[in-house]
Amino acid sequence: MAAVNGAVENGQPDKKLPALPRPVGNLEIRHTKIFINNEWHKSMSGKTFPTHNPSTAEKICDVEEGDKPDVDKAVEAAKAAFQRGSLWRQMDALSRGRLLHKLADLIERDRVILATLETMDTGKPFLHAFFIDLEGCIKTLRYYAGWADKVQGRTIPVDENVVCFTMHEPMGVCGAITPWNFPLLMLVWKMAPALCCGNTLVIKPAEQTPLTSLYIGSLVKEVGFPPGVVNIVPGYGPTAGAAISAHQNIDKIAFTGSTEVGKLIKEAASKSNLKRVTLELGGKNPCIVCADADLDLAVECAHQGVFFNQGQCCTAASRVFVEEQIYPEFVKRSVEYAKKRLIGDPFDAKTEQGPQIDQKQFDKILELIESGKKEGAKLECGGLAIGDRGLFIKPTVFSEVTDNMRIAKEEIFGPVQSIMKFKSIEEVIKRANNTEYGLTAAVFTKNLDRALTLASALESGTVWINCYNALYAQAPFGGFKMSGNGRELGEYTLAEYTEVKTVTIKLSQKNH
Ligand code: NAI
Ligand code: MG
Repeated sequence: MAAVNGAVENGQPDKKLPALPRPVGNLEIRHTKIFINNEWHKSMSGKTFPTHNPSTAEKICDVEEGDKPDVDKAVEAAKAAFQRGSLWRQMDALSRGRLLHKLADLIERDRVILATLETMDTGKPFLHAFFIDLEGCIKTLRYYAGWADKVQGRTIPVDENVVCFTMHEPMGVCGAITPWNFPLLMLVWKMAPALCCGNTLVIKPAEQTPLTSLYIGSLVKEVGFPPGVVNIVPGYGPTAGAAISAHQNIDKIAFTGSTEVGKLIKEAASKSNLKRVTLELGGKNPCIVCADADLDLAVECAHQGVFFNQGQCCTAASRVFVEEQIYPEFVKRSVEYAKKRLIGDPFDAKTEQGPQIDQKQFDKILELIESGKKEGAKLECGGLAIGDRGLFIKPTVFSEVTDNMRIAKEEIFGPVQSIMKFKSIEEVIKRANNTEYGLTAAVFTKNLDRALTLASALESGTVWINCYNALYAQAPFGGFKMSGNGRELGEYTLAEYTEVKTVTIKLSQKNH
């Protein structure tokens, strides 16, 4: 989830970018309640939950804690907004597109506020929040704004006495359950196509990072979306999230998060109303560096590919396969890069790496690092936490990693690079594909035949050649195998938010 449309290359800001604005100092948090029918509500239970700043461990504020009764209320509002004859259903498609453009305009207006909020709540560098996350949100909204009046069916040839056509209709109430690594971007990846196709929404942001999603509620109201079209219920996964996945009146659900929860959501969908499900889950993504590659480019991309966003990316380059002739040089240069990575206050414009999101993720990463040491990988640098405050982990590089080690098999979701050696293309194809995941893969080579052979043989939803995290609003993104179902971004996603209706008309055949 990085360079949506190239504002930032390989996790690094483009050299030609304008200067980074200053974050907002002492930002007042105004939106902490449940957003239903364009109004702010307290939770039915009266409960709240805290959200923290992971770089200081301080509480930012308390947020209303939604649960099943709040989800029910939100679904009722979304269903009413979707009824025949509602403002939303009667709106012409072009006007729907204009609302999406207006939302993008307001996000541009409040970009510094939103990037500040995202950095406070996630600990990601402000530099990245501003130039990557916010850039991706704006471009994705504008891309789907353009589609709103172009989602159309076809006429189907049958015989001269039959007129047959399809209508591409919105599905109804869509649930969106989002993660904490790119809170706003993952919300927009779901919200933009859902609204473009004429659906209504019930959104549950991750409990670690609800603040930017709630801010979007205020913008939805300001834009003038009819009440009930967008509803936002902050809360926990097993309560509010589970209420969404099991809801009888939710027609579709889009989720980004762990494979474990993805399975629960699909199960809940099957046990309730067979709602449509799209899932964007984990990855253990191979990054294959051939001996003929541009070594500077490959080293930099592999580094940014795994360390970007504190390693908390489903696209992380977590298995780097390097051809044996260049292996020692590649490891040496990768270690130099990792040692230079600037870690610290995410609001400092130079900071490249902030803290991990929470104690649970921090502990999981350190435990996997220990397993790497025990299983015989060579620790080249890092391998430890930094300081005693906050959740910072030193950029860690392991060499001599073999396929059976846990660090080569499990999603670490942290700043840990594992470098393996390979001898032949056939061998590396087998090893790269030997995983339950299939999200992304990258190949570095100047040889066209090798590049295309690998592009065709690798089992993953995306293959990058001589680049990394090159994501565009126009190009579909999603996983093979246990990395998920369906696609986000691009034209293919329109099918994930529409039902196809076939209308068949038999002509009377009487002479008129
Ligand atoms: P998670 O899958 O629990 O959280 C993602 C979202 O799912 C959150 O909004 C959460 O509240 C919700 N959720 C949790 N349980 C649910 C349930 N029973 N029903 C419905 N919704 C539920 O992920 P978590 O625990 O935060 O992270 C665990 C691991 O998942 C990470 O270490 C990483 O490996 C992976 N992950 C992958 C992401 C991706 O971008 N694909 C994003 C976040 C985590
Ligand atoms: Mg937080």
